Amino acid sequence: MLELRNVTRMFGRKAAVDNASFRVDGSAFIGIIGRSGAGKSTVLRMMNRLTDASSGEILFDGRDILTLEGSAKRAWQSQCAMIFQQFNLVPRLDVASNVLHGLLNRRSTLATMFSLWPEADITRALEILDRLGIAEQAPKRAEALSGGQQQRVAIARALMQDPKVILADEPIASLDPMNAQVVMDTLRRIHEEDGRMVVANLHTLDTARRYCDRVIGMRDGRIVFDGTPDQLSTGVARDIYGADESFSEDATSTSIDRLGSGPDRRFAETMISQ
Ligand SMILES: Nc1ncnc2c1ncn2[C@@H]1O[C@H](COP(=O)(O)OP(=O)(O)OP(=O)(O)O)[C@@H](O)[C@H]1O
Ligand SMILES: [Mg+2]
Repeated sequence: MLELRNVTRMFGRKAAVDNASFRVDGSAFIGIIGRSGAGKSTVLRMMNRLTDASSGEILFDGRDILTLEGSAKRAWQSQCAMIFQQFNLVPRLDVASNVLHGLLNRRSTLATMFSLWPEADITRALEILDRLGIAEQAPKRAEALSGGQQQRVAIARALMQDPKVILADEPIASLDPMNAQVVMDTLRRIHEEDGRMVVANLHTLDTARRYCDRVIGMRDGRIVFDGTPDQLSTGVARDIYGADESFSEDATSTSIDRLGSGPDRRFAETMISQ
């Protein structure tokens, strides 16, 4: 379904991504890990054509998406929605309008300028917000929400596109452990219930182990690990992060695991099932 074949991205003489290949059959929840500068964001940005590859192919359902231009490229971009660390919402705009902006690719600028949204789209936006447990936030300005709520609005905006793939670039890096868990649980639920593929760059090992079906480890632009969370031992992690014997997993932990199944965990579950 998704396959990278010998994908390279040069910046000057430096390879940000160096001959990367992997293949995902069917839908899966994929985590990409690696230290800062390893090339994780560049991989995602090439997938949704925010940046071009220098060489190689990215196949989705048998088609090389790197060759798409014009309307075909825009159609692909709406099929693979992107979520960012900093949410990228319009802060002064209300939540519902932010979600409706997920449809921008498909609308005329004029209609958008005057906020002329068809009622069916507005209903859908509210349904999605309801599904993510934040329906009551719809009329508020995005900037008035907590980080975790804002990231759920960004996920709602992504869902508005009805994407086949959700690309998440460090979606929880700016959140506290509680909100991080709510956001990751939300992404996992969307993957399981809708069958959408999720590819998430994650900066912590515990999150990758807990939520992903498969983890890809990058180091200096290369893929140095591709396996299941079970195979991601401390030794393997040390190698991915290029660390020595003193490497501690706590240094790359979101502490989600420490929320365990106690009251905090239940609180988080209530938040998303509301
Ligand atoms: N637009 C650019 N121009 C020049 N170099 C770039 C550009 N974008 C990325 N790079 C370089 O490519 C390499 C990979 O960057 P990338 O942002 O993909 O890493 P990353 O794994 O996402 O890191 P982080 O964890 O810090 O987000 C880095 O050395 C970076 O400096
Ligand atoms: Mg990055």
